[in-house]
Amino acid sequence: MNIGIIIGSHRKDSQSAKVGRFLSTLLTTQFGADTWTRDLGADPLPLWDEEIWSDGPQWEPLKLLSAQLTQSDGLIVVAPEWHGMAPAAIKNFFLCIGMPELAHKPAVACAVSAGEGGAYVIAELRMSSYKNNRLCWLPEHLIARSVKAICNADTTLNDADLQAAFGMRAHYALTLLLAYAKALKPIREDTQIDHTQFMNGM
Ligand SMILES: Cc1cc2nc3c(=O)[nH]c(=O)nc-3n(C[C@H](O)[C@H](O)[C@H](O)COP(=O)(O)O)c2cc1C
Repeated sequence: MNIGIIIGSHRKDSQSAKVGRFLSTLLTTQFGADTWTRDLGADPLPLWDEEIWSDGPQWEPLKLLSAQLTQSDGLIVVAPEWHGMAPAAIKNFFLCIGMPELAHKPAVACAVSAGEGGAYVIAELRMSSYKNNRLCWLPEHLIARSVKAICNADTTLNDADLQAAFGMRAHYALTLLLAYAKALKPIREDTQIDHTQFMNGM
């Protein structure tokens, strides 16, 4: 299985990227999956503009990301809560990336908060990201709360209880992600899908 991890923070060295690395390691070491990561803080996309439709030069690098997404079987989106919202970088990602890449693929949303927040990001992603691209959010999601105390490469920085709880949740969510990835593959090959007549969702 090939799983893409999208980091939705604008910060170049973000806590979200740290959580993404933890989830990537879990996927490769515990599940034998292949992963790749696009960090929208360290390697941002341009803000959406109309030249995306006419091959404007600023959109050339999008082709690589598009190819990576097309080849992937599933996705993890890691995004911090900023002022009770998902940051613009991840909203922009969903403006720039569409159906051929994401349609009928499973995705786990993982929110990040330095405190006890994160629920707004999950609600926002579930509400407004998938209508036209037909990404399938799993009913199971993750929230990396008290993020500075978990997922650190230097494990002495972790709070043992918080790390154990998040680690168990993450393992469970990734187990389901891979199960959904397997189950949805034949759906994508099903000829009943009609993106010509029903290009956009309602
Ligand atoms: C502009 C900004 C707004 C924030 N607003 C929230 C918030 O609404 N809720 C919350 O739990 N944390 C909030 N935080 C704290 C973040 O949870 C914390 O900085 C976290 O590390 C951000 O993840 P990142 O490093 O991946 O960007 C905010 C941080 C920033 C920079």
